Amino acid sequence: MRTSKIGICGTDLEIIQGGYGEAPPNSDYLVLGHECLATVEDAPSNSAGIEKGDLVVPTVRRPDGCLNCQNGESDMCLTGQYKEHGIKGLHGFCSEYSVSDLNYLVRIPAELSDVAILLEPTSVAEKGVFQSFKIQDRMIWKPQKALVLGTGPVGLLTVLLLRLRGLDVTAVATRPKDSLKARLVEKIGGTYVNGTDQPISGLGRFDLILEETGVASLAAEAQGLLNNNGVLCLLGIYRPNLATQDIGHSYDDIVLGNKITFGSVNANKRYFVSGIQDFKTIQQKFPGVLKSMFTKTVGPSNYSQAYSPTKDDIKSVIDFQKLN
Ligand code: BGC
Repeated sequence: MRTSKIGICGTDLEIIQGGYGEAPPNSDYLVLGHECLATVEDAPSNSAGIEKGDLVVPTVRRPDGCLNCQNGESDMCLTGQYKEHGIKGLHGFCSEYSVSDLNYLVRIPAELSDVAILLEPTSVAEKGVFQSFKIQDRMIWKPQKALVLGTGPVGLLTVLLLRLRGLDVTAVATRPKDSLKARLVEKIGGTYVNGTDQPISGLGRFDLILEETGVASLAAEAQGLLNNNGVLCLLGIYRPNLATQDIGHSYDDIVLGNKITFGSVNANKRYFVSGIQDFKTIQQKFPGVLKSMFTKTVGPSNYSQAYSPTKDDIKSVIDFQKLN
């Protein structure tokens, strides 16, 4: 593949800081870049129908031999021995050319080429939302109110997916009401709350909550905001955090309200494919919103700017067609 664009996310920054990630065996470095848009330069003939010249997004994770991995669900790997391009045990795509198993390439329609670099973070949001609804198949469930904690790219994309599904969405972050993130939430019909002005405990109750800040205390607090039969999906990466809380009350609340808290990581190909469908609808219903999430685009020689986000950045991108 010839790289067109690379998106940068919090995981890349954690890897740079040494907090996460693993170089491939026999390599003393790791090429970053798990969010990628590329053109196929060469491909053997294949049943997936991938051809030279196709615009593609590669998925991130590659399977091991476990039951789930062998059945197309490497995002549900049983052993933890999976690999992830640019994160764990495999080099990423942030170089002029790269190689991927072609069974993990998702073809991108030409009309989505300018926003498709958002497909990988969208796949993570797609999985969280899909799994929440799937779990709730256990009962009659007609969610009305949703809460999204965090308005990074995955948070904003989650708000979009929930608005497409007709939910009344509140999003909480720490930027002011006139920030781009806040304006985007309002533009797509959500309500933005600046959590530094207003505690989340006063926001009422929600049927569905997606926690994407990675702040453990917020995740614990969010569980107490669930309506009866509600579901809380955790999508953050949490650091060790000792807390004193009344766990008797929390468990009692979970039991008496039939509540669920679950975690969701990564995304298999199915969620990239559903992301493409949702992108088409988003482009019609909320034109310009996906594109306005690109707050910084630099050429490869200015890569360090892309990996140094400022507080108002949403998505930084390295564009390999840009010379500087
Ligand atoms: C990526 C996922 C990956 C996760 C944990 C996220 O940034 O989007 O694909 O599974 O990090 O490594």
